[in-house]
Amino acid sequence: MVAALSIGWLANNCPESAREEFIDMRILLLVHAFNSLSQRIFVDLREAGHELSVEFDINDDVTLEAIELFRPDLVLAPFLKRAIPKHIWSRHICLVVHPGIPGDKGPSALDWAILNDETQWGVTVFQAQAEMDAGPIWAWGGLSLRDASKSSLYRREVTNATAIAVRQAVDHLQNEPLVTPPFEVVLPIARGIARPSVRQVDRKIDWSRDTTQQILKKIRSADGVPGVKDEIDGHDYYLYDAHEAFDLAGKAGVIIATSGPAICRATIDGALWIGHMRDRGSSHPFKLPATHVLEAKLGDVKEIPVDHSSGYRQIQYEEKGAVGYLSFEFYNGAMGTRACQRLLEAYKKACARPIKILVLTGGAEFWSNGMDLNLIEAADNPAEESWQNINAIDDLAEAILTTANKLTIAAMRGNAGAGGVFLARACDLVWLREGTILNPHYKDMGNLYGSEFWTYLLPLHVGKKEALQITGNCLPMGAHRAVELGLANVCLGGGGDSFATRMSERAIALLDSGEAARRLAEKHQRHRALDGGRALAEYRQAELEEMKRNFFGPDPSYHVARYNFVFKIKKSRTPKSLARHRNRSNEKALEKQPEKEQRQAV
Ligand code: COA
Repeated sequence: MVAALSIGWLANNCPESAREEFIDMRILLLVHAFNSLSQRIFVDLREAGHELSVEFDINDDVTLEAIELFRPDLVLAPFLKRAIPKHIWSRHICLVVHPGIPGDKGPSALDWAILNDETQWGVTVFQAQAEMDAGPIWAWGGLSLRDASKSSLYRREVTNATAIAVRQAVDHLQNEPLVTPPFEVVLPIARGIARPSVRQVDRKIDWSRDTTQQILKKIRSADGVPGVKDEIDGHDYYLYDAHEAFDLAGKAGVIIATSGPAICRATIDGALWIGHMRDRGSSHPFKLPATHVLEAKLGDVKEIPVDHSSGYRQIQYEEKGAVGYLSFEFYNGAMGTRACQRLLEAYKKACARPIKILVLTGGAEFWSNGMDLNLIEAADNPAEESWQNINAIDDLAEAILTTANKLTIAAMRGNAGAGGVFLARACDLVWLREGTILNPHYKDMGNLYGSEFWTYLLPLHVGKKEALQITGNCLPMGAHRAVELGLANVCLGGGGDSFATRMSERAIALLDSGEAARRLAEKHQRHRALDGGRALAEYRQAELEEMKRNFFGPDPSYHVARYNFVFKIKKSRTPKSLARHRNRSNEKALEKQPEKEQRQAV
């Protein structure tokens, strides 16, 4: 408990006036990967004034080295797949996040919660000890489970509950370092138990007996990892992205229709859409649109248009008075060439409606993550497909930017990365849900230059200096910071439905107050300054020249990075942008902080 004692020592031995500088803690995030939950914790704790650094859990020596370099007050593990070794947890306070209620143990916490029809669940922050998922509980938070996929629950309810629980644990360590948990945990629900890993046999689909809801539950419990293994024509596939289909029926198990990327399979009491599949035995053993994976087997299965009421409705348009709402639920926020073209068609249709405001609401989990890297990887010619994809997304961005007679708003319920952020910024206004994480940079993808008019949009909204910082640092950004910088206009609190309500209220207020009309007039002026879109074309051309080099040039970095991303190749070192303790100038700065060294020495 060195860290706790040392902070306590500082708190008790410093004059009041000098305490301020010791109040914030140095927190090392130890992660299997810097996933969306880890990014949210990183952003939140930084916003709370703590000093954060990140180390990937590569091996014990690397972790030890990180601790020696950074000298954290706390090692926090929001997403870890193996136990922290004794020589680390016995010398440093290590807090681990488990996506289960107190007492729950095992690697399949959420999977079991979904399979067992739990309606109330939780997350626990406990102190690492010898036994995995066990140790003194520092904080925990409850959450309700929706009928949704595991990854959807993880990215929304689990992430929000974890953010709160982590803050409680960190505040405790900060304010009462000498009072050691465990606290008594009063549970409104039953205490959890240890459970093994869910096996494929535990969620095997029996098409001749399982109802639509039972099959949905099985697939949702395994989405996004590992997927449910199922057999079609004697071949194994993994299923993801399942949704109930309406007004369709047939012989249970049979593929009865396709719609966009999805196939429809009949069940004993209806049918369901399966949007994505994985063929582990193929040369592209990663998730792809189901119609892509089964292309050779679909024959003359009937195709239902995506905008038909019984189709796979990824893109939906709704109108309330003078406000139109366009949502696009692309799996994992990935927008392939065809998806972008479909969205552009829907966008143009919406623009032709007699509305004054068009709100683009993206998807519930992701607003957009830019080009579909999996589809690109699976293409016969990935460079050519990258080119098609970036042009398709640019066409959409250009259409948004040149929309003269509607006020366009990106209402971001979910996170966005790379080109997805700039696509949103192409709208006149950007509204963010509290807790949204943006990754407004491309460089991590093998020094990809990026397009989507970012060279125009980013300096325009945040200034040149910040634009350089944002694109160079490659760090996630929280909603408040995005608003502070001008990357977004406003952060709307409240999750799920309450965001939708606030969004609508705000859109109506824009109309009623006359602000929408004022902003439209301003936009006309801006468009004139851009000389009828000519300057925009120059930005696009210049960006695409760079992208051409990324795609077709001699430097393979983008292709290598994309391959690693799609095949989920584990990183062999933490990028320096995250492992701030490995940054030489930071090391020097640490050396110059003798008073903080005392934290370890006490
Ligand atoms: N294409 C295909 N799949 C994508 C994707 C993309 N552009 N962006 C994310 N995904 C997938 C991931 O592979 C992962 O798949 P899984 O369901 O098999 O786990 C899932 O979406 C979630 O992504 P993950 O990286 O775990 O989410 P995150 O919230 O932790 O990180 C990003 C978000 C945006 C930082 C990260 O996904 C990313 O870097 N994406 C690529 C962005 C990009 O370079 N786009 C192309 C340039 S425009």
